[in-house]
Amino acid sequence: MNARSVGWRNRLFGWSLMLVGILGGMALGAWVFDGPIPAPARFADYASLPRRLLRFSHIAAMALGMVNILYGHEVDRLRVSERARRVASVSMMLSGVLMPIVLALAAFQIDWKWGLPVPATAAFVALAVLVYGLSQGDAS
Ligand code: HEM
Repeated sequence: MNARSVGWRNRLFGWSLMLVGILGGMALGAWVFDGPIPAPARFADYASLPRRLLRFSHIAAMALGMVNILYGHEVDRLRVSERARRVASVSMMLSGVLMPIVLALAAFQIDWKWGLPVPATAAFVALAVLVYGLSQGDAS
């Protein structure tokens, strides 16, 4: 796979997103196991909505990172137009950028939760193109 392929970007993005996800997990790890840093009052309760949203932001970065890497290995083999391939590839990366960010913002200001349909729709569009493309047969 070379740098001109569409999938190369999703793979580079996916591994980079997981790197950010690990940094986020390390920041969580500084206080979620009773120190060494005292837990911020807003996030002290493991089951509270703010804490769940923050944890889900970390999980989304890890999971959407892995999905982008897988996507990067599939997208160049899809039986769809070059334009559909590029739009779907960008849509998959957009969901990986926005989902962890909007979840983290919602952990601090709950009204951001109304933004979650945007990354969810971006992921849906990307996967719908992939499923349609694969259903047309394997192009490899
Ligand atoms: C060095 C790498 C990682 C660090 C430092 C890290 C750190 C953390 C921490 C501190 C929590 C607890 C959050 C809380 O109590 O609210 C957590 C939860 C979680 N992490 Fe990570 N994580 C890492 C890698 C991963 C990876 C690779 C995955 C998935 C592929 C992952 C998935 C999850 C999940 C699903 C939870 C929620 C578990 C639960 O419900 O308590 N993490 N992580």
